Amino acid sequence: MSAPHALVALCKPWADYYSDSKGAETVVQFLHIGGLLLAGGLAIAADRGTYRTMRHAATDRLSHLKEVSAVHRWVLTGLAVVVVSGIALFASDVDTFFGSWIFWTKMGLVVLLLLNGWLMTRSEHALALDPSESSPQWRRMHRAAITSLTLWFIITAFGVALVNLA
Ligand code: HEM
Repeated sequence: MSAPHALVALCKPWADYYSDSKGAETVVQFLHIGGLLLAGGLAIAADRGTYRTMRHAATDRLSHLKEVSAVHRWVLTGLAVVVVSGIALFASDVDTFFGSWIFWTKMGLVVLLLLNGWLMTRSEHALALDPSESSPQWRRMHRAAITSLTLWFIITAFGVALVNLA
């Protein structure tokens, strides 16, 4: 699949600048990895906490729920940096990435990660209203935490594959 000419032409000034500038390459790649460190690091710590907290009684899980809610803003900030720097990386070589199944699979997985994060916040809001042991939302939170942990690692692997195989 080849990239549309209009898109290649639109990105050309940036692609030319990027390929000539080690500084731009360093800054953009750092933002992609730095944002990943911030968002992924906090999300993975929170997901592990959710996984572990399921062993406790529902009343003891509430403090963890508050911690997870507080972390969302930082995860979204980090993800925003990852997405913007990712678009800059994509625009630096549209021809290569547009035709890469690895790139599009990675984008699909990023959408799944966002969707899963949204479902997780919905469960959190429901649990704030009804945190009882019998609430089905606890099981959903548990499932969402495992899905999130898995997706962060798979997407990272696809990112590295993009650099080496696209
Ligand atoms: C819309 C979102 C994203 C876009 C458009 C995007 C795009 C890209 C592109 C084009 C590359 C290849 C860079 C190159 O060849 O130098 C890349 C690399 C990479 N991406 Fe993403 N990405 C996005 C989100 C993510 C997310 C959410 C993660 C992690 C969970 C991630 C992890 C990585 C990693 C680890 C690399 C390899 C970096 C390196 O070794 O230099 N990306 N990304």
